[in-house]
Amino acid sequence: MDEPLDPDLTHASLVHDLNNIFETITEVAELMSTDKHWKTLSATLRRCVVRGRRLVGAFPDRTPYLAAIVEDAIQSNTDYCNAARRPRMLFERSLAAGIRLPGTAKDWERVFVNLFLNAVQAVRKPGKIEISVETGDSLCITVADNGPGIPPEILPRIFRPNVTTKTNTAGRSGLGLHIVASIVKENGGRISAANRETGKGAVFKIVLPKV
Ligand SMILES: Nc1ncnc2c1ncn2[C@@H]1O[C@H](COP(=O)(O)OP(=O)(O)OP(=O)(O)O)[C@@H](O)[C@H]1O
Ligand SMILES: [Mg+2]
Repeated sequence: MDEPLDPDLTHASLVHDLNNIFETITEVAELMSTDKHWKTLSATLRRCVVRGRRLVGAFPDRTPYLAAIVEDAIQSNTDYCNAARRPRMLFERSLAAGIRLPGTAKDWERVFVNLFLNAVQAVRKPGKIEISVETGDSLCITVADNGPGIPPEILPRIFRPNVTTKTNTAGRSGLGLHIVASIVKENGGRISAANRETGKGAVFKIVLPKV
């Protein structure tokens, strides 16, 4: 066949092939779950598959409630820390129930997963992430950690693509915060990054219109 792939099929075909991969991982998880030594990691694999399927839109999206999305992102972060044998983060949430976000739940999960993952990668010790929200005319969500803080030389351009301090990643890094900022912008909000004025750590603030 010498015709190029129909552009309309590009996304669908990617989802199709990713589903084949998810299927294999699910089978592996199933096998592992029969051995008590691997039961926990098997559950981690299953949750990863659910997240992956959610990300590619295989399930109907949920209503984007802030507290529920943050819990899923925390679980994802804890799974990562356990599997990668990194110290687990302590999460302190100050989130009122029933706060709805604009847009889709799967996009907001990406936002919090990326922010929490960056904190884990920066902190490198059993650190702490605080998540809080203030509601007034708009929603102001703060994610703050107690790591070393953002290197000042990259702070002004931190949301641009390919800005990273990771090395040896063959140009594939520096996208996480760009994705975060794009999703925030798409939903009519804005995001800022700073370092704590007292003590050490990075602080990300997201301001959104109320739904
Ligand atoms: N919580 C944080 N504390 C300290 N530095 C941070 C924090 N979050 C981000 N950074 C800095 O910002 C850079 C860019 O982050 P970003 O998530 O965009 O890319 P990355 O983490 O380097 O790569 P990728 O997310 O694509 O795997 C990081 O390399 C790091 O130097
Ligand atoms: Mg990142």
